[in-house]
Amino acid sequence: MKIKTICCIGAGYVGGPTMAVIAQKCPHIKVTVVDVNASRIAAWNDNDLNNLPVFEPGLDSIVKEARGRNLFFSTNIDQAIEEADMIFISVNTPTKTYGKGKGMAADLKYIELCARQIAKVAKQDKIVVEKSTLPVRTASAIKNILDNTGNGVQFQILSNPEFLAEGTAVQDLLNPDRVLIGGDTTKEGQAAIQTLVDIYANWVPKERILTTNVWSSELSKLTANAFLAQRVSSINAMSEICEKSGADIDEVARAIGMDSRIGPKFLKASVGFGGSCFQKDILNLVYIAKTYGLNEVADYWEQVILMNDHQKNRFSDNIVSTLYNTVSGKKIAFLGWAFKKDTNDTRESPAIKVAYNLLNEQANIAVYDPKVVAERMYADLDYLNTRTEAVNRSLLTVDTDPYLVTKDAHAIAVLTEWDEFKYYDWQRIYDSMHKPAFIFDGRGILDKKALEKIGFVCYTIGKGS
Ligand code: NAD
Ligand code: UDX
Repeated sequence: MKIKTICCIGAGYVGGPTMAVIAQKCPHIKVTVVDVNASRIAAWNDNDLNNLPVFEPGLDSIVKEARGRNLFFSTNIDQAIEEADMIFISVNTPTKTYGKGKGMAADLKYIELCARQIAKVAKQDKIVVEKSTLPVRTASAIKNILDNTGNGVQFQILSNPEFLAEGTAVQDLLNPDRVLIGGDTTKEGQAAIQTLVDIYANWVPKERILTTNVWSSELSKLTANAFLAQRVSSINAMSEICEKSGADIDEVARAIGMDSRIGPKFLKASVGFGGSCFQKDILNLVYIAKTYGLNEVADYWEQVILMNDHQKNRFSDNIVSTLYNTVSGKKIAFLGWAFKKDTNDTRESPAIKVAYNLLNEQANIAVYDPKVVAERMYADLDYLNTRTEAVNRSLLTVDTDPYLVTKDAHAIAVLTEWDEFKYYDWQRIYDSMHKPAFIFDGRGILDKKALEKIGFVCYTIGKGS
């Protein structure tokens, strides 16, 4: 079967960029991305490409090329489902905030809604692709719903988890380390797998397209994120030993990374990992292990998150203790709010937790981030539900000028590794601050020696004084 029309349900950080790249690379396929969120769809359709809802380097030019040709964004979900030969489900699967598994399990309500809607609308056979990250064995639940509530048409379920990282999504999609496709071992299942292989083969070398059974594919996604996050927690654990012992975490990372069995990537010590995936997916893994009665396995992976929480807390604790045990009424300037550079995404950003801790100590926080808008930061704080909206807006201010944000500050905290921070006029910033002028570099990106020469008192993650 050759696919002519694709529908993707969910126009978020994954659905948008992924489908834009498929549309660009497969001009013979009509790709429609649908969402219940009308303002998000309107933003994807905005003539001004600066207003796309997802900021990713290079995404604007791909959308410009394909949109209106074979890439469409729409709120008409039923129509797009009906037209499609293949439907990707790319909706959010957040951690449950209620009921059984609260705070751990993935909330699959949006997935189930999609399955029911597909079943209701579909009048011809379709291939349904899990693009969202899902607990192992979700495909059987989706299949059950489709088969029992549908119109008698045949569905094949594939698992095709997405491995893109935000900030490099376009590069990751154009040149993936691998594409993973899991499906049924039956003849029909294998044929469905081949159909999706054929789509990716338009630009991905065949040897990088890996096919497995559906459970392996679902579980591999959680496993990959757990391993990646574990590396960050491991290097962050060592960063604390470095600070006590006088070792330098960048030197240690370099030394171990040259061992080909370890490798150099994902060894950058930080104020902690953030993002919508790592914590959610590990919690989900822990929950799955517990439901299988595998308590030691669950505890093992949970430690990755506990270490990450510790890293964020010890960063803010250090600010308070260094500033003579009080930040009450003091201005602390935040450089960065996004969970990593080159994205406007703030989900689970360590900046939120650090801000929360410092606000509890009655600090005044001023934030500059090149891509995150003030409303987003306030939404992150309001979501914590610990202060009124008015109080959040009075204690935390946002400005688009980093020199204004740092002016009259007692300390600067670097929360995101945006490149531009390295090139600021640091002498000018120093001159405008209260003395002693402190910098807490939570990303290890600034030139500590140069800053100390200016007169700053510098703390860098993983470097002793
Ligand atoms: P997102 O929140 O940015 O986007 C999800 C979209 O789905 C939202 O716009 C929402 O309105 C829409 N939606 C929800 N229910 C719907 C429904 N019933 N019908 C139509 N639209 C609906 O989420 P995301 O970051 O794109 O993540 C999506 C999935 O991909 C998650 O399972 C996530 O774990 C996984 N994933 C994310 C990343 C990442 O970097 N963000 C990477 C790999 C995998
Ligand atoms: C992650 C996975 O990398 C990706 O494969 C998956 O599809 C989605 O989840 P993402 O969360 O977008 O991607 O970004 P990633 O580059 O993995 O960074 C996650 C967090 O870890 C960020 O806060 C980042 O700053 C932090 N990190 C990463 C470190 O602190 N040190 C590192 O060495 C690497």
